[in-house]
Amino acid sequence: MDLLIKNGRVIDPAQGIDEIMDVACATGKIEKVAKAIKPQGKPRVIDASNRIVCPGFIDSHCHLREPGREDEETIKTGATAAAAGGYTTIMAMPNTAPCLDTGPLVAFVFNKGRETSISVFPIGAITKNREGKELTEMADLAENGAVAFSDDGNCVADNRVLRRGLEYAKMVDRPLIDHPEELTLARNGVMNEGKISTFLGLPGIPREAEEIAVFRDIALASLTESRIHLAHLTSAGSIALLRQAKKKGVPITAEVTFHHLILTEESVKGYHTNTKVSPPLRTRDDVKSLRDGIKDGTIEVIVTDHAPHSREEKETDFENAAFGIIGFETALPLLLRLATEIPLNILIACLTSNPARIFRFNDRGSLKKGLRADITIFNPKEEWTLTEAVIKSRSKNTPFLGEKMKGRVCCTICSGKVV
Ligand code: DOR
Repeated sequence: MDLLIKNGRVIDPAQGIDEIMDVACATGKIEKVAKAIKPQGKPRVIDASNRIVCPGFIDSHCHLREPGREDEETIKTGATAAAAGGYTTIMAMPNTAPCLDTGPLVAFVFNKGRETSISVFPIGAITKNREGKELTEMADLAENGAVAFSDDGNCVADNRVLRRGLEYAKMVDRPLIDHPEELTLARNGVMNEGKISTFLGLPGIPREAEEIAVFRDIALASLTESRIHLAHLTSAGSIALLRQAKKKGVPITAEVTFHHLILTEESVKGYHTNTKVSPPLRTRDDVKSLRDGIKDGTIEVIVTDHAPHSREEKETDFENAAFGIIGFETALPLLLRLATEIPLNILIACLTSNPARIFRFNDRGSLKKGLRADITIFNPKEEWTLTEAVIKSRSKNTPFLGEKMKGRVCCTICSGKVV
């Protein structure tokens, strides 16, 4: 035994555990979870009284800007920010410059990820340059470390291309993550289409743009029997379609971001560019449906969609600003805001055991004996203020700046090491 975490409230959804217990680790693995474990040898002892101890968080959707925009984030700074937020595994989207559409580029991110203190896994592009036309060498990308495929930011519009992509993804047993947004309806839009977009004079994106793509994705997942994971759902209609498809046994899963669970289109009213995200923030009814979707298991994953952008890209008018906000370091306090409505064990499953199952990380996502000792310890009551100075990410684009936060990560342990 080399690490012993004492007296924490251990929440491990995969094992149905929620009680005060100790966690012992040895050589980077979980050795035992039990009450009053006696130290054996000379382990490092961490007192976790009044803290919650759970499996390390897994983020299956983030953007690190390396290669290409290292001024906004590097793999290293992104991993540091992720560790500060309690993440021990993150999956990086391929919309870098150049985009991750060849084996060597995927290997570059994979290898750079290994130099950080957490696990960073690349997601390979589905099509060359994410243009939706020609498939990448998907098997080669998988061999070089791609854990999934996505053209995130762009929906693969061509149904035939997506069908073939799904067939190849199936051969290498990787899920395909689609950004469901029908392009001709979404084009030029910058926020949800409705009364507020009319009032603000901003071009809108109707929720139907998402729903049409979700319907298409369900049909192709069913046709190919290949796994589709729907990125960042926002609309009540999409949740209804997904619920029905899952009932029928279609191999489809979905995620939602923290910001779509917390904010509505009302936040856009001040033209604050840090409320500009793709897909856009929707209405209160949509937010309610997303939360209901998590409660009943229709949505199984919560992601950050951490999207760092430079000041130049955000300090401009709303229509020209970049889409996206950072998320690693606000994830936990936002999760706890949701805990007034959704049981904490369900929320933690959406950050641990569920993404581990969907992305086949069989060695993590739970505190079962023998799994990697990836552990997050947090104080649910600690209050703090989100300022630029405390943010570890290289970019500071978040709409939550200046807000009081409740809940803070005190220790992130990756493979048995405090990081
Ligand atoms: O808001 C977003 N920003 N959504 C995406 O799909 C892409 C991301 C980015 O890369 O900035």
